[in-house]
Amino acid sequence: KKIAIFASGEGSNFTALCQAFTREKMPVEVALLVCDHQNVPVLQRAENEGVPTMVVNFRDYPDKASAEAVIAARLAAEQIDFILLAGYMRIIGPTLLAGYAGKMVNIHPALLPNFPGRHGIEDAYEAGVSTTGVTIHWVDAGVDSGQIIAQRQVPIYNTDQLTDLEQRIHQVEHKFYPAVVKELLEKGEF
Ligand code: GRF
Repeated sequence: KKIAIFASGEGSNFTALCQAFTREKMPVEVALLVCDHQNVPVLQRAENEGVPTMVVNFRDYPDKASAEAVIAARLAAEQIDFILLAGYMRIIGPTLLAGYAGKMVNIHPALLPNFPGRHGIEDAYEAGVSTTGVTIHWVDAGVDSGQIIAQRQVPIYNTDQLTDLEQRIHQVEHKFYPAVVKELLEKGEF
């Protein structure tokens, strides 16, 4: 199976996914990184993993649909079977969703439906809850609103600084995301 990963910035989940797929000898190839920013660390990470990249600057296009049409054409040309969003900070529009309904998943750093949006970790921390977590879900047209596939709890301790919690969440994400993808493959969901 050929995978495209979409990411916007740091890309620690991108690296974790690539390395887990190799380590676990999974029958997948990360054939493309789609990134909506120039000069972000995930691009170097892709080079390190030998993954081709496509940088799409949405401001170069009149609207989201035309930018997504360019991405969709590349996905079709590469015969991408499914898409993993990993820190891709844009809502997926109908142009991309159309071809990949049920073939696109996202990771969110909170226990959805709690704390959706850009600041899931911080929002849970500020709310003072004692448990947050990580959610893997199917992508739909909303913000972190698609059907939940799997969740993992992460504790918040009284002594935590926000950075402690961020680290703990990311550590969980890096193991959990590849594990869930493996399960989806084994179940024939992709
Ligand atoms: C992760 O916390 C992910 O859950 C969220 O964005 C963050 C991306 O981190 N959607 P990274 O770019 O993979 O390091």
